[in-house]
Amino acid sequence: MRLAVVGKGGAGKSVIAATLARTLARRGHRVLALDSDPLPGLSYSLGVGEQDDVPLLRAIERREDKRWHFVRGVGPARAVQRFAVDAPDGVRLLQIGKTTREGMAPVIGASHAFFKTIHGLDRVASLRDWVVIGDLPAGPRQIAFEWAPYAERFLLVVEPTWQGMLTARRIVRLVASYRSEAEVLLVVNKSTGAADEERVGAFLELEVLQGVPVDDGVRAAERAGAAVLDFAPDGPAVAAIERLALRLDGSTVGA
Ligand SMILES: Nc1ncnc2c1ncn2[C@@H]1O[C@H](COP(=O)(O)OP(=O)(O)O)[C@@H](O)[C@H]1O
Ligand SMILES: [Mg+2]
Repeated sequence: MRLAVVGKGGAGKSVIAATLARTLARRGHRVLALDSDPLPGLSYSLGVGEQDDVPLLRAIERREDKRWHFVRGVGPARAVQRFAVDAPDGVRLLQIGKTTREGMAPVIGASHAFFKTIHGLDRVASLRDWVVIGDLPAGPRQIAFEWAPYAERFLLVVEPTWQGMLTARRIVRLVASYRSEAEVLLVVNKSTGAADEERVGAFLELEVLQGVPVDDGVRAAERAGAAVLDFAPDGPAVAAIERLALRLDGSTVGA
């Protein structure tokens, strides 16, 4: 299962990507979470907090040809093996590196290493049966689908607002033009009920795979910088994301 989570900024991509990753790991999958957002999000939602270290900087060097190359002995497989970090429930997290006070410049090498790694993932035999879940940032990077070459499915997270739906429609069209072989799966987040889900589904002409209710536990977890799975595990959002995991896992499709 290889998917990328896309949607407007603030729609809930990081919360859903992280909770889904951990839920699938609890179900016995080996899971690689990919964070290509230079702003913090996924690591908090997974429950590993923020890291100052940018491990992927050790995977790459800029040579005399002015181009970035993996250091000797490192390729996509080793980059994941050595430079992904442990997250709860056994999830492994590979991060692009976060912007610093100096912007992206200090971590630019890491973004090259990340890019080269994700473009080599298909060739990594040891990851063949892993679940790969990418959390894509909103904006032009995500729109250039070059940042999710591994994705067979795009999990489109949409808030039931007018702006949220309009942005989602653009994303649907972008996937159709750049990645026509990929599937778009619709998740309506911060839903207040069936009417929200029906409205979004009708607008986008897509079936709603899962609605995730608005849940104060998610906001409270966010304020505490913790994972909702640790902070409000019994709330309705976690329950809905667990149903989503079941659906994606195939065992209960149509149930
Ligand atoms: N189901 C939900 N109920 C309530 N708040 C939510 C829900 N999902 C996400 N949020 C809140 O919305 C905000 C954006 O979520 P986040 O996952 O960071 O979005 P994105 O990664 O798409 O920018 C966060 O403050 C988060 O706590
Ligand atoms: Mg995010």
